[in-house]
Amino acid sequence: MPLYEGYGAITDKIIFVIDIGAAYTKVGFNGEFSPRAIIPTEVEYKKTGQLRKIYDYESEEDLYDLLVDFIQMLYFKYALISPKDRPVIIVESLLSTTLFRETLAKVLFYHYEVSSILVLPSHLVSLATLAIDTGLVLDIGYTEAIAIPVCYGFPLIHAWQALPLGANAIHKKLKTLLTNDNMGIQNIEESILEDIKVRCCFVTKRDRAEKILSNNPGLKPCPNIKYPYGGSKTLNISGKVRELTYELLFEEDNDHQCISTMILDALSQVDVDSREKLAENIVLIGGTAMAPGFKARLRDELYRQLKNERYSKFKKIKRFLFHTPPAKDNYTAWLGGAIYGATDIVQLKAVTKEQYFEENRFPDWANLKDSIKNFNNNK
Ligand SMILES: Nc1ncnc2c1ncn2[C@@H]1O[C@H](COP(=O)(O)OP(=O)(O)OP(=O)(O)O)[C@@H](O)[C@H]1O
Ligand SMILES: [Mg+2]
Repeated sequence: MPLYEGYGAITDKIIFVIDIGAAYTKVGFNGEFSPRAIIPTEVEYKKTGQLRKIYDYESEEDLYDLLVDFIQMLYFKYALISPKDRPVIIVESLLSTTLFRETLAKVLFYHYEVSSILVLPSHLVSLATLAIDTGLVLDIGYTEAIAIPVCYGFPLIHAWQALPLGANAIHKKLKTLLTNDNMGIQNIEESILEDIKVRCCFVTKRDRAEKILSNNPGLKPCPNIKYPYGGSKTLNISGKVRELTYELLFEEDNDHQCISTMILDALSQVDVDSREKLAENIVLIGGTAMAPGFKARLRDELYRQLKNERYSKFKKIKRFLFHTPPAKDNYTAWLGGAIYGATDIVQLKAVTKEQYFEENRFPDWANLKDSIKNFNNNK
């Protein structure tokens, strides 16, 4: 047995489970309750020595090269197993691009010679952590918020809703607020913005936010914070900034869309009889959902929106209930993948090396050819 087998030498039943997010990648093994590592989705690009984000690729070839370096780091620095002839589970969003999925499959099959790949949709597998098959899943991570209802184990893709509201948008807003407050400070790095966001900011109540915006004198402000920055300097983070940073998630845009309307619009796209059940089974996943106060505020916003004329047809919906998965929100989808990996589904549904080399392409739910094949197999 080769020495580089590491942990893999002890048991040959292990499956590598990866969730490559736009900001953070979660990696670990099937059947385990948390990822072995959560690392930034970036790698030191061997050709130039630069640190590059995987999703900042310029072309297919560029993405291939980045993924080769990144996957090598995942296997040999974090997982300590050999990829050769071992299955892999990839947890990804249903809206992830075909180019990314195809290139990742090419890297894994050609470069790392894995035996099979099973791609699982993050919204569906997150429900496995709660042992339920029906729920409305809202993933709010780095690039965007995506809501997809899942009914009896089937994601209702026609009802999906997405908005560019995630950590990226929050960081941009925080940067603007901080540069307005701190004269002379211009380019605050993203890692600092993230640190300030996680340590100092929170989601406030709607009435407080409205009072702050209208400069209501009767409001007791939340304390300011001095954040050490760039060695000798400090950043002044006012109570206003701390409370208002997350407000963009709940402000309606020009099309009257925000996080709460996404959930209600997704519900309006599904069968009338399923709406009540979905409203009582809301599952929030993604790191941004971990912001303090987010869930309470979202619940309040949902009840507020329900009173609007726009949603007057939702007569049956009386309450919104949120599940609490047995994992932190940012790795709930990964945990779902690890649970699926402990079942027979990998042998039944994974795409093997032989199947891949036959057609030289990876099956995709959005491709009619694969959908018809799946439909016939399930009959
Ligand atoms: N406790 C927390 N409070 C607030 N934000 C948090 C917390 N923990 C993580 N985050 C934020 O969550 C974001 C990452 O979330 P997540 O890991 O779900 O994104 P991702 O999967 O990489 O992105 P995407 O799903 O868009 O591809 C980070 O920007 C991080 O700042
Ligand atoms: Mg994610």
